[in-house]
Amino acid sequence: MKNQATIVAILLLAMMTIMADNGFAMADNGFTFISSKFLAQGKFRALTESIYELPDGHLASFEIVTSPRPLAPTDPAVTCLAYNLTSSKFLLIKEFYPSLGRISYGTIAGLLDSRDTSSSNITERVLNAAKREAWEEGRVPLNSDAYINPTPCMMDKYVCTQLYSAFCAFNSSSPHSSEWNQDLRDEEEQGMEIVEVTEDELLELLHEGKFSVVGEWAVRRGLEMHKKYMNTNINK
Ligand SMILES: *[C@@H]1O[C@H](CO)[C@@H](O)[C@H](O)[C@H]1NC(C)=O
Ligand SMILES: *[C@@H]1O[C@H](CO)[C@@H](O)[C@H](O)[C@H]1NC(C)=O
Ligand SMILES: *[C@@H]1O[C@H](CO)[C@@H](O)[C@H](O)[C@H]1NC(C)=O
Repeated sequence: MKNQATIVAILLLAMMTIMADNGFAMADNGFTFISSKFLAQGKFRALTESIYELPDGHLASFEIVTSPRPLAPTDPAVTCLAYNLTSSKFLLIKEFYPSLGRISYGTIAGLLDSRDTSSSNITERVLNAAKREAWEEGRVPLNSDAYINPTPCMMDKYVCTQLYSAFCAFNSSSPHSSEWNQDLRDEEEQGMEIVEVTEDELLELLHEGKFSVVGEWAVRRGLEMHKKYMNTNINK
């Protein structure tokens, strides 16, 4: 009996190691990971099918959007609400949402990638990504005061993106949006427009439901950090 238990334990350990290699060692509240495979792989995202055993013993299949690189449990991404201290205005992204077929608003945002490996500290990697995206998308100077909320959220039940929210404040008299370099942007970012809005205009856009769900989340979290920043740095 004792030997059997040991063998089972070793087998379980081996299985967990294999799953961990795939990045799918997660099993929570009686939901046990069984397998995962790609259904389709595009340039920026992929559709995977993951099978889990439910607490009642049934198997259930979930279709999850992830990135096309080897299966990973989460893809970290960061949103960044940028604030221009010179004009007292927020920078927003106004762009076409092909999923909706209409224009919608959001904040600067991007995935963490190989350029964000300079530190093993996730907070520093997220900050690095936030500043890079703010520069690439909004020409926000790299020496901005940037903060992140250290607690990430999952984007959705079916999307494998772990979202961090950031806020950055900057002084600027640098070129305006028409002179920004489109070449720094990815293909899917072409055609996006940066708009500057006052806090009142921002709240009005929120009220009118002009943001995507993620955009609204990013703005609300960014506004919390903005409030804290203004209280400690400006309104002393
Ligand atoms: C990670 O970096 C942040 C920002 O520099 C720092 O506050 C934090 O203490 C670091 N965490 C660890 C575990 O080193
Ligand atoms: C912006 O400029 C003010 C006044 O020169 C300075 O005190 C502040 O540190 C600057 N902030 C940033 C983020 O550059
Ligand atoms: C920040 O505001 C100043 C003053 O309105 C403006 O000249 C500058 O272009 C703005 N910078 C950015 C990056 O939006």
